[in-house]
Amino acid sequence: MFSNMLPAVALVASLAARVAVAVNPVEVRGQDFFDTVTNNRVMIVGVDYQPGGQAGYMPQRQIDALSDGDVCLRDAVVLQSLGVNTIRVYNVDPTLNHDDCASIFNYAGIYMIIDVNSPLGGESINRAEPWTSYHEGYLTRIFGVVENFKNYPNTLGFFSANEVMNDVESSEFNPPYIRAVQRDLKNYISKHVTRTIPVGYSAADVREILEDQWNYMQCSVQGEDDNLSRSDFFGLNSYSWCGGDATPQSAGYTTLAALFDSSTIPVFFSEYGCNEVKPRVFEEVPYLYGPEMTMLSGGLVYEYSQEEADYGLVDINDNGTVSLRVDFDNLQTQYRTLNITLLETGNSTAATLTPPRCSANLISNAGLSKNFTLPRVPPGGQQLIDNGIDNPTQGRIVDVSNTRPSQAVYGSNGQQIQNLELRQVANGESNTPTDASSGTGTNPASSPSPTTGAAGKVEFGVGYLMAAAAMMAVWTSI
Ligand SMILES: *[C@@H]1O[C@H](CO)[C@@H](O)[C@H](O)[C@H]1NC(C)=O
Ligand SMILES: *[C@@H]1O[C@H](CO)[C@@H](O)[C@H](O)[C@H]1NC(C)=O
Ligand SMILES: *[C@@H]1O[C@H](CO)[C@@H](O)[C@H](O)[C@H]1NC(C)=O
Ligand SMILES: *[C@@H]1O[C@H](CO)[C@@H](O)[C@H](O)[C@H]1NC(C)=O
Ligand SMILES: *[C@@H]1O[C@H](CO)[C@@H](O)[C@H](O)[C@H]1NC(C)=O
Repeated sequence: MFSNMLPAVALVASLAARVAVAVNPVEVRGQDFFDTVTNNRVMIVGVDYQPGGQAGYMPQRQIDALSDGDVCLRDAVVLQSLGVNTIRVYNVDPTLNHDDCASIFNYAGIYMIIDVNSPLGGESINRAEPWTSYHEGYLTRIFGVVENFKNYPNTLGFFSANEVMNDVESSEFNPPYIRAVQRDLKNYISKHVTRTIPVGYSAADVREILEDQWNYMQCSVQGEDDNLSRSDFFGLNSYSWCGGDATPQSAGYTTLAALFDSSTIPVFFSEYGCNEVKPRVFEEVPYLYGPEMTMLSGGLVYEYSQEEADYGLVDINDNGTVSLRVDFDNLQTQYRTLNITLLETGNSTAATLTPPRCSANLISNAGLSKNFTLPRVPPGGQQLIDNGIDNPTQGRIVDVSNTRPSQAVYGSNGQQIQNLELRQVANGESNTPTDASSGTGTNPASSPSPTTGAAGKVEFGVGYLMAAAAMMAVWTSI
């Protein structure tokens, strides 16, 4: 690439191209996620991000949730002010360029957990007949997602599958396929990625098979390949806390706490936020992040935008503007009560718990698979794992030159919020709920002036550019 340049010029050019502020990569240690640089615990304070719903995934038109930087800039500003540090993105096209979006979220201190699947044929495991959907073409797709997102430091993890087991019946044959997919993903990552990226499953909250599914996914079998098939984390889609009258007992949170206290992998809500009582008040949030639930690693609220299912924190208007809903205000208020010190405190006991050995007596429900002999890698698959897929689209962090969204954002009271700007977190930091409210920029010369009133309850920290040069750091080795 630089062959026509003098070495010194090439070095400068390569430095300029790669200098960027980045969040620190995250890894799993026992029950918790940890920041690999600060060694602080990482608690997921997240939102599921799926603008347009499932229909927003349009590979035939080269569109997915992370393909348009202008849209991501608008939404990253909104999500940053909400206080989240993670988004989950369900359906991505591994052939598209996601550099602008991934870089914008990274700049804002927001991690991404990416589902490797999509609802389209050939792009996920078919729960009715998993053996028909586990093939070379499917593996090419999911390895493509790994290639696409592996270079972004804010890629926190990959979901191997979502709610494939959604009742007892579907739990008979599918669990070994999920572990096989995880084995293949983790083998691919170990051969083609310079860091470990966690891989885990996102489970439906079917209480009669919950413990069994979690044990099936976390247990270890003798032999390296079988160990590789273990989940690195366990996501639970849980909608059991409904409205302001719910209690930790009535919502079943105390049961979950007792169950997952001994987990040997991180457990978090990959979706939560019951909408039976509206507007949502999110009183589960202080409990979920409080001292009683430290065995869980937080969660992702379902979901950013208002879609047919009626779970939105914001409305995305037809003209591209965004209107915050009261649910947004309520969630932001709850996030601001969180104790960041507690969130960042690891538990050294929980970090060293060893996984149970896989065996039939670990599984109590007669309907759930007790088969830990995994399907073999399908024909052609091992070749992909060993040599990598052909012509992958590999992302990289790029400069974020524009930090002011062009679209208007309206508060829940209907008034336009002024001076919207993406705030750059310090190198190695992620976004926290209190950043948005306290507005403590590190550069006193550009202290923020949070706007109240215009946005109702909503306060946006605005206009504080970091002392860019001081904050810059090289995030990849050169
Ligand atoms: C599998 O994992 C267990 C628990 O982490 C470990 O004790 C064992 O040595 C591993 N086996 C192999 C072959 O790596
Ligand atoms: C965009 O649409 C919303 C909702 O219909 C409306 O309230 C707003 O005024 C429009 N804004 C612009 C800039 O057209
Ligand atoms: C926040 O959590 C830390 C660590 O557990 C604790 O020492 C501190 O008292 C908590 N602060 C508040 C205000 O509860
Ligand atoms: C630390 O983890 C252990 C094992 O899961 C648990 O029993 C204990 O209650 C945890 N301690 C705290 C302070 O959360
Ligand atoms: C377990 O699953 C493997 C792989 O799918 C299969 O070959 C084997 O027959 C199954 N064993 C039993 C007892 O069903």
